[in-house]
Amino acid sequence: MVTRADIGVIGGSGFYSLLDDAEEVELATPYGPPSDVVTIGRIGSRTVAFIPRHGKDHRFPPHRIPYRANLWALRSLGVRQVLAPSAVGSLKAEYGPGTLVVPDQLVDRTSGRAQTYYDIDGAVHVSFADPYCPSGRAVAVQTARSGGWETADGGTLVVIEGPRFSTRAESQWYAANGWSIVGMTGFPEAILARELALCYTSVSLVTDHDAGVEAGQGVTHDEVLEFFAQNVTRMRTLIAQTVESLPEERTCSCGRALDGIKLPFELP
Ligand code: ADE
Repeated sequence: MVTRADIGVIGGSGFYSLLDDAEEVELATPYGPPSDVVTIGRIGSRTVAFIPRHGKDHRFPPHRIPYRANLWALRSLGVRQVLAPSAVGSLKAEYGPGTLVVPDQLVDRTSGRAQTYYDIDGAVHVSFADPYCPSGRAVAVQTARSGGWETADGGTLVVIEGPRFSTRAESQWYAANGWSIVGMTGFPEAILARELALCYTSVSLVTDHDAGVEAGQGVTHDEVLEFFAQNVTRMRTLIAQTVESLPEERTCSCGRALDGIKLPFELP
């Protein structure tokens, strides 16, 4: 049997399963295995492949996640649209824990992560001015608002290298730039999705105010996990509803990201 899926979900901290009655598939990719077995199942009329970003037992810290393998595995299953729930810190006083942010911009503050599939001979430069899928974003925002979530439509996600949290000065600097949220996994995930011509939508749940916004010691990992755990059932429902509302046919430009570019190898 050839296992296929049309929508991919990469679950973040505390989000280790999505589908009941799912088939588990072990996949190999040229970049090694993905973070864990991929579970494939149905949500309504859609077939969904789920990967827990950190592994089911949370063994991969943000800087060691096999990002390339995860996106490659999803594409090889036939996935063309990816939803990426994650936990983030807020850089704005008005976005408290529980706010959902569907960012439209990203600032990469990571270092040393493999961030391209095209690090071999030949130049492949994909456009990344708008890193997220406009259709996926619109569906996520509308679905979240109908579900009663406090939702920010747009905003800038700063992705830090981690695994440490930001200093107060770093956090204040990000906030002073007008950036909205801070996380550790949104890059290179977004660019790798674009390099494979996939639609990619970040659905970011604020779990804390980052150090520059709130007095005190700053956030801890336990706080992040605990808050996410309290909200994971709601998040699962939101992601499932968003999956069902994604368009069957893509009309955005994400699928054309590689048009006119001579690729050094065939995509899966
Ligand atoms: N993930 C959740 N909260 C975070 C924060 N404050 N900084 C970076 N990543 C986070």
